[in-house]
Amino acid sequence: MDIVCSQQELRLFKNIGDAAARMNVSCYLIGGFVRDKILGRPTKDVDIVCTGDGIALAQAVAAGLPHRPQVNFFKNFGTAQFRFEGIDVEFVGARKESYTMDSRKPQVEPGTIADDQLRRDFTINALAISLNEDDYGKLVDPFNGVGDLNDKIIKTPLGPDITFSDDPLRMMRAVRFAAQLGFKIEDSVFEAIGRNKERLKIVSQERITDELNKIMATKKPSVGLDLLFRSGLLKEFFPQFVELSGVEIIEGKGHKDNFYHTLQVIDNAAAKSEDLWLRWAALLHDIAKPATKRFEEGHGWTFHGHEVVGERMVPRIFKQLKLPQNEKMKYVAKLVLLHLRPISLTKEDITDSAMRRLLFDAGEEIDDLMILCESDITSKNRVKVKRYLENFEIVKERLKEVEEKDKMRNWQPPISGDQIMELFKLTPSREVGILKTAVREAILDGVIPNNYDAAYELLLEKAKALNLIPANQVK
Ligand code: CTP
Repeated sequence: MDIVCSQQELRLFKNIGDAAARMNVSCYLIGGFVRDKILGRPTKDVDIVCTGDGIALAQAVAAGLPHRPQVNFFKNFGTAQFRFEGIDVEFVGARKESYTMDSRKPQVEPGTIADDQLRRDFTINALAISLNEDDYGKLVDPFNGVGDLNDKIIKTPLGPDITFSDDPLRMMRAVRFAAQLGFKIEDSVFEAIGRNKERLKIVSQERITDELNKIMATKKPSVGLDLLFRSGLLKEFFPQFVELSGVEIIEGKGHKDNFYHTLQVIDNAAAKSEDLWLRWAALLHDIAKPATKRFEEGHGWTFHGHEVVGERMVPRIFKQLKLPQNEKMKYVAKLVLLHLRPISLTKEDITDSAMRRLLFDAGEEIDDLMILCESDITSKNRVKVKRYLENFEIVKERLKEVEEKDKMRNWQPPISGDQIMELFKLTPSREVGILKTAVREAILDGVIPNNYDAAYELLLEKAKALNLIPANQVK
């Protein structure tokens, strides 16, 4: 087996092998590091399994390394970790492990390397390479993991029901590896996911979402998301997403399958940007379609207001999925709210003022909004797609023009609320709001130019109508 390791990795492995020999235990590289090295993928995490005490081995290795890295350990799990020149190194003592039916808490007893390999999640993750003197570099592959890497297939070392009941998160991991590596999940394993999906309940939402985000970060997220959907896993933790699926037909009129439409939109956005949160906005852009769906006789299906209801659903969904409740969430909510705006502009109303409004409302998010909106153009009807895309190009062009002409990017009106209060000696009040809005709207509508003097003049005029006099003119 040809595996390419850096000098630094080789130095580390020599240190580990020597320390293990001194302690009279055997040790192996195992798991993702071996898998990724064989696949030629970049790796930064090294996992080591040894007979006996993994924490003691980690400490012995660290003591012999330059700068003596600090060892962090978890006694309950028998694992230890340190960083060595940017490599994350983890140690574990080989274990036999079983889990009780209603908990993830393992019952652990020391075992051999073979026992340890047997309790790993997939054959491709159970590959080990010896770091022991007598057979240094030898690949230990009891379940034909290399064959499965070549065949691009995800299989479990034990029967899949046992492997999944040991840790139900592995069902999500199966989908994630399939999506990341472009592998197929073996039929019997996929069927086992269907049988065991409800066991996901005992797994923390943070771990589930971590896997979901890894799927979202893949080149073509639809692959993993569709596997989650078809296996039934998705419904277990994200029923709102599943509700988008299906087509209803009344009076011979059907609507799009919004689940598969959404997958297409995510892929389109992923092809244009690696930003995870833009992908989340794509995932959630139509989330309120089921809630707003109506059939209007003689007209067909409508989803009026789904962007507004969708925006409101975002915080709840972020909370449910334990996604961050911060500016990322606000960003996603904003894109969901605005996702129809650019495309709803037709040739007739691509006026300067419509463009200014769009730029003002989108603010910093304008580029991402345009990516989302363009990604949303999907249809089986090629002529329709072509027509929409052409129109969208015009919107893009006009947007650029207006932006350059009016310097509207991240625009703020030339007179702020604070300045208005200062000018008329007002405290925060309805009047301040009225004046602020009047200035903003006049500029956006092109009634006055975008500068301080014009804004000031308009302000005086509007203030007069409210019986307000600037403080510097009060006698
Ligand atoms: N493992 C397992 N069951 C889990 C998680 C991990 O059997 N639920 C084992 C696998 O052998 C895996 C190794 O622990 O290869 C390391 O796990 P982890 O670091 O989570 O995954 P990697 O396989 O290294 O892949 P990645 O770094 O892409 O997450």
